[in-house]
Amino acid sequence: MEQLEIKNLTLEFGGIVALQQVHMKVKKGEIHAVIGPNGAGKTSLFNCISGVYKPIEGDILFEGGSILNRKPHQIASLGIARTFQNIELFRHMTVIDNLLLGRHHRFHSGPLSGIFFWGRALREEIRHRQKVEEVIDFLEIEKVRKKVVGALPYGIQKRVELGRALAMEPKILLLDEPTSGMNVEETEDIARFVLDIKEELEITVIMVEHDMGMVMDIADWITVLNFGSKIAEGTPSEIQTHPKVVEAYLGGEG
Ligand SMILES: Nc1ncnc2c1ncn2[C@@H]1O[C@H](COP(=O)(O)OP(=O)(O)OP(=O)(O)O)[C@@H](O)[C@H]1O
Ligand SMILES: [Mg+2]
Repeated sequence: MEQLEIKNLTLEFGGIVALQQVHMKVKKGEIHAVIGPNGAGKTSLFNCISGVYKPIEGDILFEGGSILNRKPHQIASLGIARTFQNIELFRHMTVIDNLLLGRHHRFHSGPLSGIFFWGRALREEIRHRQKVEEVIDFLEIEKVRKKVVGALPYGIQKRVELGRALAMEPKILLLDEPTSGMNVEETEDIARFVLDIKEELEITVIMVEHDMGMVMDIADWITVLNFGSKIAEGTPSEIQTHPKVVEAYLGGEG
């Protein structure tokens, strides 16, 4: 069974068809890239998976069960975490607090319930902090852990956002353009982290990415969208030479 299966997914905004009959199967443990020109529907697909947009047709199965009618926080609790195309962090809070917040979103004794159930909350808090420190270690951001996020360089902020999603201990991680705005060196760092996420943490990664070098290097499978429809899927070497993909990227009529 696939870990995630998208069936016949169709999404509209007014008259605009953002996704049209999209099928996609994601295997546990793979790096699955979703590529396509601007406006192809990649972020919309992520928004459907994470429950932000409601498709007008189709289904999304996670571990065999439909998540179509679940709310975003329920989908996150099931184990699907994401990062955003535009960084969404609390800029005035520290790195550690941003990562902790990622966990409080998932686990239920939040800061307030702690007043009443302090024993349980204390144990949970210790576990939260341990996990957050593990993620900080993993992403090599120890030096900035107590810094306010808004003051950090953009590339590091992107890494912190990745950390916030990892701190939730997801089964599937959705990354929307994890290297956008990064230089070559920062992009290589992210590519290495994404590979480690797959190999060491054994988390499935679905990644929207415009950097074709990175996609071809690390993806196991690629789905290509254009104007809301899937035009191709396959291994990096199959996709690189696929006539429809080449045409879509060269600005053919599609
Ligand atoms: N909230 C919305 N309201 C109206 N139209 C939307 C909305 N979100 C997306 N769209 C439209 O859906 C289509 C797909 O957009 P989407 O953001 O999914 O593309 P994308 O592949 O992520 O593009 P990019 O590479 O530029 O990020 C576009 O035509 C876009 O204008
Ligand atoms: Mg997008």
